Amino acid sequence: MNDLSRAELLDHELAEAMDKLVIVKSAIYTSGECDPRDPPLRQDTAGRLHLMGHDPRLPKMPAKPTLFDFFNYRFGPAAHMLQSARLALKNGCNEKVILACLVHDCSAAGFIRADHGYWAAQLIAPYVDEEVAFAVRYHQVLRFYPDEAFGYKYPDSYVRLFGPNYRPEPYLDRAHEYCRNHKWYETGRLLTVNDLYSFDPNLQVELEEFTDIVGRNFRQPEEGLGFDDSPSAHMWRTINWPTRYL
Ligand SMILES: [Fe+2]
Ligand SMILES: [Fe+2]
Repeated sequence: MNDLSRAELLDHELAEAMDKLVIVKSAIYTSGECDPRDPPLRQDTAGRLHLMGHDPRLPKMPAKPTLFDFFNYRFGPAAHMLQSARLALKNGCNEKVILACLVHDCSAAGFIRADHGYWAAQLIAPYVDEEVAFAVRYHQVLRFYPDEAFGYKYPDSYVRLFGPNYRPEPYLDRAHEYCRNHKWYETGRLLTVNDLYSFDPNLQVELEEFTDIVGRNFRQPEEGLGFDDSPSAHMWRTINWPTRYL
């Protein structure tokens, strides 16, 4: 079978599967585009079942997904995280900082953007040293606050993105203050120092470069991420199967 007929067959199979299923979007996907006070859009559900597992529009993940599977199937092009981890490696950072760089934006890439440091820290917390989760949680906060001792300036990109008059909310000021006085401040700060503002489209960094560091510092559950009953298993499951009815 040539590539074109294979693609046609897959399209056909997908269309058939879609005809049999009701696939919904959670309110958080549409809030803003739709008024969350309105009732959800009505779908014609006659003769169809509500999706409760894999979404046929998505690439299927292995039964026991690993962290790298999530990078490959759900975190989009992860060049920014990979290049940040490579920079930390080049700068002689320890493995905790390198791992933190590798996963720091996984929520923005594959889950939820708002509060992405907090979501990402919760996702990884059961599997990494507490200090790594701490750095990932606070990198989002620390990015707004310069620290000359580390050569860290307020990002020019933030002026472009948020305008010159943007001021962090008071909860960010408080989180910054807390983090600044914490024994792991340096780990969080080093993550922001290696968190690349702009990435090089010509620099190809492979995930496999970090296989050993991940092996030593990320406790991959035997059952696969999402199926190990950890406090964040449900979050990994939602990334894997995001459009289930329940
Ligand atoms: Fe980030
Ligand atoms: Fe980042």
